[in-house]
Amino acid sequence: MTTTRGLREQSDPITMLTAYDAHTASVIDDAGIDILLVGDSMGTEALGYDSTLPVTVEDVESRTAAVARGSDDALVVADMPFLSVGVDESETIRNAGRMLKEAGADAVKLESGPHTVEITDQLTHLGIPVMAHLGLTPQHVNQLGGYTRQGTTEAAAEEILSLARAHEEAGAFALVLEHVPANLAAQVTDALDIPTIGIGAGSDCDGQVLVISDVLGLSEDAPPFADQFGDVRAAMTDAIEEYKTAVESGSFPAEEHSHVEDSLDDLD
Ligand code: KIV
Ligand code: NA
Repeated sequence: MTTTRGLREQSDPITMLTAYDAHTASVIDDAGIDILLVGDSMGTEALGYDSTLPVTVEDVESRTAAVARGSDDALVVADMPFLSVGVDESETIRNAGRMLKEAGADAVKLESGPHTVEITDQLTHLGIPVMAHLGLTPQHVNQLGGYTRQGTTEAAAEEILSLARAHEEAGAFALVLEHVPANLAAQVTDALDIPTIGIGAGSDCDGQVLVISDVLGLSEDAPPFADQFGDVRAAMTDAIEEYKTAVESGSFPAEEHSHVEDSLDDLD
């Protein structure tokens, strides 16, 4: 069982992948990945939106519940969607709390900034573990003008380092660093006791995270810092085309598919 405390003592690099449904969560969990992130990347990866901005608390809650039901050992982290945190104090707490109380998450992740130091402290004190997230924070795409690398000037790097320290101080149990120079990620990792988990942040973080559809080769437009470790899109296409051909040619259903037991209880 991965725990927020255990991560700190783990000697192997931390592995984290996103998941948005129970089947995928169970495959990732069985493979021994440490953390399942129910990312708001579900907006583009599962829900068909152009960005993460339209994703709702209900979307994340329902997907988190599915991922929690589909997994046993991995730590399940629910990603708080755009404007679900920081608008109003009690609403923030209630939204984050739902992910643990209703959906079965172990922790939440917040896209972090100066405004989330206090929130991180508050949630942590209430018993809601917080994973912080600095560097490229896609919910700010309208300010950033695109999904560009962050922390590239000295001032910006300083800001990220000081926010990283502030979030550790506020009680965050881990920090995602997205799309920042490798030397900055190394410096932040060095400065913190809590683990850093990088994406497009070089190899010196304590762990790595990628979006599952990029890893599987399911998405058609993976970012350049992601690597494709499989070709699931091609495998799906093959299976679906074979099914189509089988139905059209009359080879499916065959005799053996036409005399199944009445009860489907054994299926799962
Ligand atoms: O939503 C997401 O998938 C993320 C990861 C890229 C860290 O926030
Ligand atoms: Na996210």
